[in-house]
Amino acid sequence: MRVPLKDSFRVLRDPVAGIWVRRAAEGGRLDRGLGARLFGGDVAVDLGTANTRIFVRGEGVSLFEPSVVTVEVATERLLAVGAAARKMLGRAPGNIAVVRPLRRGVIANFELTAQMLSHFISQVRRPLLSSLIGPRVVVCVPSEATRVEIRALREAVEFSGAREVFVVEEPLAAAIGAGLPVSEPRGSMVVDLGAGKTEVAVISLGGIVTRSFIRIGGEDLDRAIATYIQREHKLTVGPVSAERLKMELGSALPPGEERSVEVRGRSLLSGFPQTITVSGGEIREAIGVQVEAIVAAVRDTLDRTPPDLASDIMDVGMVLTGGGALLRRLDERLRRETGVPVHVADDPLECVTLGAGRALEEMDHHHSSLLPGD
Ligand SMILES: Nc1ncnc2c1ncn2[C@@H]1O[C@H](COP(=O)(O)OP(=O)(O)OP(=O)(O)O)[C@@H](O)[C@H]1O
Ligand SMILES: [Mg+2]
Repeated sequence: MRVPLKDSFRVLRDPVAGIWVRRAAEGGRLDRGLGARLFGGDVAVDLGTANTRIFVRGEGVSLFEPSVVTVEVATERLLAVGAAARKMLGRAPGNIAVVRPLRRGVIANFELTAQMLSHFISQVRRPLLSSLIGPRVVVCVPSEATRVEIRALREAVEFSGAREVFVVEEPLAAAIGAGLPVSEPRGSMVVDLGAGKTEVAVISLGGIVTRSFIRIGGEDLDRAIATYIQREHKLTVGPVSAERLKMELGSALPPGEERSVEVRGRSLLSGFPQTITVSGGEIREAIGVQVEAIVAAVRDTLDRTPPDLASDIMDVGMVLTGGGALLRRLDERLRRETGVPVHVADDPLECVTLGAGRALEEMDHHHSSLLPGD
C-alpha cells in the first residue's frame, strides 16, 4: 500500500477563503491566493514531548522546532527557544536551566509551554495579521489526556493569542496525516511512536474504536541506553549522545550487518572523559524491554479489535508514524509478531501535524474529529 501523504496538499480548496491554493512543485511553500493572504493564518499545532510543529493554513508545515527552552534561573527570564535552546542541553552553566516544558505529550510547565508556543506562533504569522485577528487553532492532544490536561493545553494556546481553539486526538490526526481513509466504515490502524509515549489506535467512521496508550517513547529508549552504558562500561553519557547511539545503531531486530560507533562520556571510575566503542548488539539489548512493550501494546490492541475491523487491518495493514517509526526494522518486527502488514508513513515526524492541518483545512469534512477545546 502506498500512503498518499502530501499529495493531497498539492492542490486543495481553502473552504473559508474559498480559493484554490497550490504547493510549489519542489517541496517549497504554497503559493497563496489573495483570499488566503487576507484570511489565512489559522494554524494546527502539534506540541510534542520532543518537537513542536506548526501547520499554517494554506502553507503546510511551516515550523519544526525542538520543544525546549532555556531560562535564567535567578530571574526566570526566557533566554532561548527551540533549536537554539536545545544546543545548550547538557552544556549549560548553573545559572541557566534547559527545560522541556512538555512531558509525555502534556504540559509539565504551563508558563514555559505558553511562552514557547507564543514565540513559535509569532514566528509563523505576520505581525499585522496577528495583531488584528487571532488565529483559529487546532491543537493535538494525547488520547489519554485528562480534562484538566486538555484545559491546560487550550489555555496555553489561548495565551498565544488564539481566537478559537479546537482539539484533535493525536492518533486520529496521525491517521489523517498518513492518508488513511478514517471516515470510511473500514478499519484503519495507526501506531504513533513519539518521544514520550506510544499510542495505538484502530479507527473507523472518523472515531477511535480500540486504543492503547503506553508511557514509553523515544526518550525512554535513550534513557535505557544511558543506563546500559553506565552499568556495562562504567561511563556516563548525556541524553544527546544516547539519542545519537539509538539513531545510528538502534534496531528492533538484528540488522544484516552489525556496526559499532564510538561514544564519549565521563568515566565513573576516573572521573575523566573517556571514549568507548559500542556495538549495535549492545544497543539492541539496552532497548529490548521497551521495544517488547511497544510490540505487546500493538498485539493487545489487535486482540481487542472487533473481528470485522481486524480483518480489514489484515488486508491493508497498520501504519507507523512519529519519530520512533524510524527505528530500524521495527516494521519487520511488528510484522513478524502480529502477522499484519506494516507500513512506515512517508513523513513519520510530520504526520500528526499534517493530519491536524488537514482537519483544519477541511473543517466541515472532519468536523466529527474536532472537538471544541473545553
Ligand atoms: N532514526 C530514528 N531512530 C529512532 N528514533 C528516532 C529516529 N529519529 C527520531 N527518533 C526519535 O523520535 C522521537 C521524536 O519523535 P516525535 O517528534 O514524533 O515525538 P513527539 O511528537 O515530540 O513526542 P510525543 O508524541 O511523545 O509527545 C525522539 O525520541 C527521537 O529520538
Ligand atoms: Mg507526537
